[in-house]
Amino acid sequence: MSFRLLRARTAGQCHFLPLLLLHLVPGFLLLLFLRPASASAPTVVTHLPGYDGPLPFNLETGYVGVEDETGTELFYYFVESERSPGTDPVILWLTGGPRCSVIMGLAFEIGPLRFVRAPYSGGLPELVYNPHSWTKMANILLLDSPVGSGFSYARDPKGYDVGDYSSSLHVQRFLNKWFTDHPHYLSNPFYLAGDSYAGKVIPLIAQDISEGIEMGQQPIINLKGYMVGNPITDPKFDDNFRIPSAHGFGIISDQIYETARESCKGDYINPSNKMCAEVLHTINNLISEISIEHILYDKCDVVAPNSVDDNSRRKFLLEGSIQISKPPSRPPVDCFTYGYYLAYFWMNNNLTKNALGIKEGTVGEWIQCSVGLPYTFEIRSSVGYHLNLTTRGYRALVYSGDHDLEAPFLGTHAWIRSLNFSIVDDWRAWHLNGQAAGFTIKYENNMTFATVKGAGHTAPEYRPEECFAMAQRWLDNEPL
Ligand SMILES: *[C@@H]1O[C@H](CO)[C@@H](O)[C@H](O)[C@H]1NC(C)=O
Ligand SMILES: *[C@@H]1O[C@H](CO)[C@@H](O)[C@H](O)[C@H]1NC(C)=O
Ligand SMILES: *[C@@H]1O[C@H](CO)[C@@H](O)[C@H](O)[C@H]1NC(C)=O
Ligand SMILES: *[C@@H]1O[C@H](CO)[C@@H](O)[C@H](O)[C@H]1NC(C)=O
Repeated sequence: MSFRLLRARTAGQCHFLPLLLLHLVPGFLLLLFLRPASASAPTVVTHLPGYDGPLPFNLETGYVGVEDETGTELFYYFVESERSPGTDPVILWLTGGPRCSVIMGLAFEIGPLRFVRAPYSGGLPELVYNPHSWTKMANILLLDSPVGSGFSYARDPKGYDVGDYSSSLHVQRFLNKWFTDHPHYLSNPFYLAGDSYAGKVIPLIAQDISEGIEMGQQPIINLKGYMVGNPITDPKFDDNFRIPSAHGFGIISDQIYETARESCKGDYINPSNKMCAEVLHTINNLISEISIEHILYDKCDVVAPNSVDDNSRRKFLLEGSIQISKPPSRPPVDCFTYGYYLAYFWMNNNLTKNALGIKEGTVGEWIQCSVGLPYTFEIRSSVGYHLNLTTRGYRALVYSGDHDLEAPFLGTHAWIRSLNFSIVDDWRAWHLNGQAAGFTIKYENNMTFATVKGAGHTAPEYRPEECFAMAQRWLDNEPL
């Protein structure tokens, strides 16, 4: 998700050691699976509060323990494919942030639910079916990750202190356990997918899974590839290309752009002289006038609670007392973020929590993005993982909402070009309903890049029909 938390920082702690140990001792993982710890039956959800009638799809929710020492459990929603669940792909969807709830995926991007946008006057917001749900072609597993997002929790507050490596390891453990408990899905093609900051860690998780496969770790997941949208990948590309993108969008003038180019010499991250620093300051002020998640949309209140809420959340866990903080500030009803505001009331309603099987005494107050919890940004660049995965035969679809300035498509395409792959299908429009829906280029090693015309940072949220078509064609191994 969008909330400006995305700038990657360089490594502090290194969590690589436990990762290596697991890889060296394959039997160790197996032992973890056999341990009955924190095993709790999943919840079959046939009705949801605010949704009229029985759900027209099969929904299961549940917790999977991923770290015994801290009592860390990740919460998931599994929506079975409405087409051919036995053979359709299984897609693990992660939301970015880091630490935004996967409700973004379920009710705003690719999932089967949508909030009815109506002025909130208390009670339960209403939900309807999303006709462009990816569950029409795939089994979708949506995970609240890292711990501290959504309904995922740790008994020991120390469990919340995670970073790129430890949270990726948690996802890998989650998958191993989930597939062990759902063995009939093991033969389905498996893909990882997600937007924004999820795009930073998905290649790492995919690489960990692929190494597990090579070492014969059970269960063998049928990993085929991954999809990342407006992925945070490497500041050298994401941040540097924000300046030419802002110029292309008409946010900065030719003269300002020329000054920046001449004084900063291509490095807009670490200004090397006063003139560069000054012009970057001017540019940042101009960019701050617009909504960077989608440059054409109104700048709206972001429904991200402040860090006080996160502290109360941790305190809740420490003291075992529920602390409901004030609801998030109310955006105008026609604001893009109004749906997130509604989600807050729906998720915190006891009827919803009961229907979803939320364990009492775990998460006092659901918040959309737990931005105040500690998180260690460890991966500076994901480009190396993309290179490794695609050259090992895994398929990749990298897509960009083309009106995003957070991870602008120019930067995304630039890191893809830096892989030096040769072009298999050169830049062209891809279409839906007789119109260009975006532009695409395919490289060797099954690396496809596509823009989604008119979409912002979380592309399926803005262009659901186009993104559905794009994903379906790609999953079916067809040209876009
Ligand atoms: C919701 O459930 C919690 C925990 O059981 C309870 O303390 C709280 O009073 C309930 N809230 C409402 C509005 O019923
Ligand atoms: C890519 O794979 C090589 C060979 O297995 C490995 O040495 C390297 O660390 C990997 N790159 C990353 C970014 O993990
Ligand atoms: C591309 O993907 C297809 C379908 O999964 C696969 O058959 C083919 O081997 C892949 N090509 C490369 C170069 O990895
Ligand atoms: C791509 O080519 C450039 C220029 O030759 C080179 O500097 C770079 O290391 C290459 N990148 C990869 C991933 O091979």
